[in-house]
Amino acid sequence: MSEATSRPLPRHVAVIMDGNGRWAAARGLERTAGHEAGERALMDVIEGALDIGIRYLSVYAFSTENWGRPRREVEFLLGFNRALLRARRDYLNSLGVRIRRIGRRSGPPEYAELLADVLAEFDGAFEMTRSNRRLELLVCFNYGGRAELEDAAARGPIPDNLYAPDVPDVDLLIRTSGEMRLSNFLLWQAAYAELYFTDTLWPDFDRHALAAAVADYQGRERRFGALG
Ligand code: IPE
Ligand code: IPE
Ligand code: MG
Repeated sequence: MSEATSRPLPRHVAVIMDGNGRWAAARGLERTAGHEAGERALMDVIEGALDIGIRYLSVYAFSTENWGRPRREVEFLLGFNRALLRARRDYLNSLGVRIRRIGRRSGPPEYAELLADVLAEFDGAFEMTRSNRRLELLVCFNYGGRAELEDAAARGPIPDNLYAPDVPDVDLLIRTSGEMRLSNFLLWQAAYAELYFTDTLWPDFDRHALAAAVADYQGRERRFGALG
């Protein structure tokens, strides 16, 4: 084993799955087709995370800012998350994946009914998979880092009141599609994350791309403000 590959694996990998709209536009397709194409990438990355031995995988599925998109797209994304959970939960359960949602439960009133349906689907998937221990999939849905910190601070000490206080900090944060920003993702948990940006659009990302990001992570020196 080379020195790089003997370095510890990231325990917690977080992914900003970005670029679905651009992937579709490049093919003359509707943006929604890009979201659909992103499902295959997500499933492949989950299987890749299991193969590699990652314990926590956080994926940004819908942000508190994404409510600002056109109604058509918001409705599509809510329905899509629900359908994806329904279609994939048995398979993910069979793989030993625990499906957990983090984010706010409330959203804009005009979407209340649709949102309640998706949340019910998430709750069901969590109940079904709650005893699984191989991989914890944290689906960040109606999630915003600032909202999480506001909600936590209103309840007490922040670290104890995060949406998933038992989950360790993010070690490796991946963002696809060439954008180099956090877009309000896991602001507290990613304070010392190693950042990895790739131009690959989310629908083209896969387990090999994940392995490349992990290998890059293993070549880094983490210092946490101290001397290496
Ligand atoms: C990421 O892809 C998926 C979500 C935000 C739900 P985008 O929809 O942001 O795709 P781009 O960034 O417009 O290409
Ligand atoms: C971040 O991507 C949110 C998700 C991937 C769910 P966005 O596409 O919404 O972020 P910005 O608008 O480019 O910052
Ligand atoms: Mg985007």
